[in-house]
Amino acid sequence: MAAICAVILAAGLGKRMKSSLPKVAHPVAGKPMLWHVARAAKGAGITEIVFVLGHGREKVLGTVEEFGGKVAVQERQLGTGDAASCALSVLSPKANEVVVLCGDAPLILPQTIRTLISARRRKKAAASVLTGILPDPAGYGRVVRNPDGTVARIVEERDGGPEIRKIREVNSGTYVFDRKFLARNLPRLTDVNVQREYYLTDLVVQALQEGKTVVPTVAKDPDEVRGINSRKELAEATEVLRRAKIDALLDEGVTVVAPDRTYIEPEVSVGADSMIEPGVMLLGKTKIGKGVRVQTGCVVENCRVDDGAQLKPYSVLTDSHVRKGAIIGPFAHLRPEADIGEDARIGNFVEVKKSRIGKGSKANHLTYIGDAIVGKKANIGAGTITCNYDGLAKHTTLIGDGVFVGSDTQFVAPVTIGKGALIGAGATITKDVPPFALALSRAEQKNIADWVIRRMPDLLRKAGLKVPLVKEKK
Ligand code: UD1
Ligand code: CA
Repeated sequence: MAAICAVILAAGLGKRMKSSLPKVAHPVAGKPMLWHVARAAKGAGITEIVFVLGHGREKVLGTVEEFGGKVAVQERQLGTGDAASCALSVLSPKANEVVVLCGDAPLILPQTIRTLISARRRKKAAASVLTGILPDPAGYGRVVRNPDGTVARIVEERDGGPEIRKIREVNSGTYVFDRKFLARNLPRLTDVNVQREYYLTDLVVQALQEGKTVVPTVAKDPDEVRGINSRKELAEATEVLRRAKIDALLDEGVTVVAPDRTYIEPEVSVGADSMIEPGVMLLGKTKIGKGVRVQTGCVVENCRVDDGAQLKPYSVLTDSHVRKGAIIGPFAHLRPEADIGEDARIGNFVEVKKSRIGKGSKANHLTYIGDAIVGKKANIGAGTITCNYDGLAKHTTLIGDGVFVGSDTQFVAPVTIGKGALIGAGATITKDVPPFALALSRAEQKNIADWVIRRMPDLLRKAGLKVPLVKEKK
């Protein structure tokens, strides 16, 4: 069967980014620029992807791996034509159609790639090219058309005169080629131009010389053809994706109270009837269920938040799971592997790390729970701390069902508290507590009568109290 493959050109340094990171590794909506391009190719049904990499290629190998791609190395950046040549030898011999994409154009959509593929097939052309009509075409290569509408030439801005600069139809840098045409013609490119580079775009003229055609497809949305060359364009691309994501969620029945003040990354999902309040960031692969309320200032990364849960303001959650109906915050911090049970309650200034909190349990105030397993309907008093770290290793605290922990308790782990036990406030628990026991660990209280009157009467005066007369002690 005929096969189609994609080549993503991504070896350029991107000088205008003024960065030590290669341009295509810069994040757009939280993912490397290159990742978005590869995702679009995959979404268009292309399984074989060759990445042409150069500068700082180790920084994008994660993306290559994620898409099961192959790498072609371009040691010296001699131009887009040279970059495409580097990919040729890596392409599988079965591929007879080659989609070429720019690693620095992350807004391309799968549907557009599919349209471009069928445009070439329909006309049996040597190539098809995606173009866009831009209000400000500065910096892009311009598309010169033949009278029949096919492409005559693509001229880089720097190589063209004022007539060329007036053209508003630009080359997106996305093409579909007949493999044989490409293999035959790449070696024929020359670097006779202002930049002394091998231009992939010169293949247009070579096609005409062979009596073949190059068909243009104009992108419906000019945003899609945008190449990113500066930090400003980087921010604009993120904004396009952010807005598109929020529009999609609004369509799916999610309330986003202030769309312009909400940041949601492309891979996040949110169930119907959830409400996302202003100033929220939902990041990575976060999955929010139905009827969830996420209040202002929450930052949620790679978490699952099940139906009916509530995240109160300014809670920060990472790699955690909040089960049905649980309430988190305000000002709570769930660190990796926190698993909060159904209808549990994690209140203000409570930090939970790598711990399971059972159904209906509560830790409402000023607490640290780390490396712990807490049963059902336990009550963890204010100021409770699991001392999980001895300076060398982490240890586990086990707290049974229905345990009541008085305020200001420390659990020096490893330690186990049996179900139904009661811990008196202010305890330092170093030994296991059997089920249903009362554990107390505090010095007995001593009251010394009239001590303040005799020894610090000024304290009373300062407070405006009358200092009572007492007999001197002998
Ligand atoms: C290129 C096109 C231009 C088009 C624009 C769209 C050419 C000659 N020009 O110009 O017509 O309007 O893209 O954004 O093709 N790359 C390599 N190796 C190289 C050079 C570039 O891998 O030696 C990669 C870059 O990493 C980048 C892509 O190719 O992802 C485009 O290169 P860039 O230098 O940005 O080309 P433009 O000048 O923008
Ligand atoms: Ca570019």
